[in-house]
Amino acid sequence: MKKTTDVLILGSGIAGLTLAIKTAEARPDLKISVITKTEQGESNTRYAQGGVAAVWDKAVDTHQKHIDDTLDAGDGLCDKDVVRIVVEEGPSRVKEIIEWGTRFDKNKNQDDYNLGKEGGHSENRILHYKDLTGWEIQRALMEKTKALPNVEVHEHYFAINLLTPHHLGYNITRVTPNIECYGAYILDKTDGDIITFLSRVTVVATGGAGQIYRNTTNPVIATGDGIAMLYRAKGRIESMEFVQFHPTALYNPAGENPDFLVSEAVRGYGAILRDIEGNEFMHRYDHRKSLAPRDIVARAIDNEMKISGADHLYLDCTHLDKEGFYAHFPTIYDKCMSLGIDPMKDYIPVTPACHYMCGGIKVDQEGQTSIKRLYACGECTYTGLHGANRLASNSLLEAMVYAHRIHLNIMKGVEKYDLKMEIPDWDATGTMEPKEMVLITQSMKELKEIMSSYVGIVRSNVRLKRALDRLKLLYEETEELYRSTAISPQLCELRNLISIGYLVSRSASMRRESRGLHFTTDYPEEKDFIDVTIL
Ligand code: FAD
Ligand code: SIN
Repeated sequence: MKKTTDVLILGSGIAGLTLAIKTAEARPDLKISVITKTEQGESNTRYAQGGVAAVWDKAVDTHQKHIDDTLDAGDGLCDKDVVRIVVEEGPSRVKEIIEWGTRFDKNKNQDDYNLGKEGGHSENRILHYKDLTGWEIQRALMEKTKALPNVEVHEHYFAINLLTPHHLGYNITRVTPNIECYGAYILDKTDGDIITFLSRVTVVATGGAGQIYRNTTNPVIATGDGIAMLYRAKGRIESMEFVQFHPTALYNPAGENPDFLVSEAVRGYGAILRDIEGNEFMHRYDHRKSLAPRDIVARAIDNEMKISGADHLYLDCTHLDKEGFYAHFPTIYDKCMSLGIDPMKDYIPVTPACHYMCGGIKVDQEGQTSIKRLYACGECTYTGLHGANRLASNSLLEAMVYAHRIHLNIMKGVEKYDLKMEIPDWDATGTMEPKEMVLITQSMKELKEIMSSYVGIVRSNVRLKRALDRLKLLYEETEELYRSTAISPQLCELRNLISIGYLVSRSASMRRESRGLHFTTDYPEEKDFIDVTIL
């Protein structure tokens, strides 16, 4: 079955919906189709706690300070032009979502926004809505989208593959010039049909991939589908070795997927990290102590846990005032209380968990990928903003700035691109319904174990080789299953996560130095130049 649209957007988080709204408002004559694999509101965006970093209080803060903090966190690998673009354009994008109905907390006098602080920021510049900033942004964007008649949102539509000349019989390799994208094959999860969704331009906004690890703050939708699809379509992917672990996920011995996050804003509010004996330790690692950038804090925690043999340590909020704490962090407070931890009396047990993919689909300053007629924005991309480590709360900002830039590029005209009606429909010949789901679920568990054991916060040559050897076997078994089995979201997600696992492990093994989020015991120093291009 075929469907057609002008602009096909894969993903309904902040990146996808911001772009849909802008383009639909500016061009009521265009049809904008947003597809999303579960409910529209389920995304990494929805779980963002801390807020959006933007220079707001110009009496104390400046663009240059935000730029310097971003460059410092990025450890030498940020693209300086991109950092300037995002920092300077960011506040206008924040004003837009406020105009669209997003609420941010105000100060006591209600005359301006209450700005929070997080690790690596030299000033208070985080706009937030309690500890539910992402939920509030997602709500406002969905309401705004609903009011636009030329946006159609398809829930429970799962993107399987991008349509490229490969589907017209051409032999595509990673060095073939001028590959184009004509849309995507989409599984309608409600009836199992696979739709050939043709578009003039396509935008990948499918978010992150935290689900490659056993412990992650990312919801179960974060399976790296967009990055894996683009990799299969022979597009350019970059910097996948830089996986950010959040230092303070709530430790829950019962195990949860995802792990509940205890926002860095709690440390910005004055909370202190303590080791398993209750002693402060961060002063031994960085002068900014508990508010050092995330790579430093996560590595320090990992080191302290290895020394003591404990599987968690503590966040101490007991000296903070209860009223203020509850007003700012009601969700965190209630979650702790539900587990019998009173943050005002007890130390909160915390442990690091995979949180954010700094690498991804390589895009230029207008959000164009290496494949023509194909854009990408949000967490699935590598723009150059984060370099080797993302500064806290810079990602919602980046998603909005790049959605805007893609929108401007689309405004130059998409009519020049035709709909490729000759693309063949999905061929399911020779496949059978899956007989043993355990083959998929067990491989998923194995993948998470491999990544968590061998490609975590601290890496080494021998661990990375083990990971790559084991991933190869998983890859071969899963490809065999994929060829013979009817398409299911679970199988596609497994296949995608294996690709992400490979990209992270391979890039990590090629980066023979330690920098930002990538630390390897075999090369503990930084080097001047390392080529990590995966062909
Ligand atoms: P997402 O919001 O993840 O949206 C991706 C969309 O793509 C979803 O709708 C998903 O269903 C859809 N999708 C994926 N695959 C497919 C497919 N195959 N077919 C169809 N649809 C698909 N950043 C900050 O700046 N500040 C914060 O305070 C902050 N806190 C965070 C707290 C948590 C717990 C987490 C997990 C992240 C946090 N981040 C924060 C990071 C930030 O939330 C994300 O980077 C950002 O929201 C990503 O937005 P996105 O639109 O790119 O992707
Ligand atoms: C947090 O609230 O700690 C998350 C902020 C971020 O990931 O940017």
